[in-house]
Amino acid sequence: MTTAIYPGSFDPITLGHIDVIGRAAGLFEKVVVGVLVNPKKQPLLELEERVATIREAVEQGLPDVAARVDVASFDGLTVDYARQIGALFIVRGLRAISDFESEMQMAHTNRKLSPDVDTVFFMTALEHAYLSSSLVKEIATFGGDTDEMVPPAAARRLRR
Ligand code: PNS
Repeated sequence: MTTAIYPGSFDPITLGHIDVIGRAAGLFEKVVVGVLVNPKKQPLLELEERVATIREAVEQGLPDVAARVDVASFDGLTVDYARQIGALFIVRGLRAISDFESEMQMAHTNRKLSPDVDTVFFMTALEHAYLSSSLVKEIATFGGDTDEMVPPAAARRLRR
């Protein structure tokens, strides 16, 4: 079984992430969405809440592939977690040229750390190319409407 890990903070998951998960599930037999425990970042949504939100969003938004998408939290290096779950590929989304430099750096570093794990990029769908979790967080913090940016499971939690 070809397994890929899609790592990230997902604070919160956006429609752009859902698009990437759906397309990754078209290529890989199993996709593990890995939610990073990042002690350096103060998240808006707690870890367990992010995991629960992604699970719900995948079940609602991607019902045809949900059985092949796992959601789990991890800490430490992405390549170590990839090895642990038997994933040979890391999935990342690219929105714009501005993403490219840091993503290229991460992909090369991960390959140096673990040459048997490769990174596959999906160009985020054009309609989601402007989206970012940090902007969504800012909008939600000031009471703005994020309903068209995030799946309903996340919008509900952000409103709360
Ligand atoms: O959603 P994000 O915050 O853009 O995701 C970044 C993430 C989680 C993919 C990256 O920070 C990561 O892989 N962190 C785990 C620690 C690690 O492996 N660091 C080396 C990466 S080159």
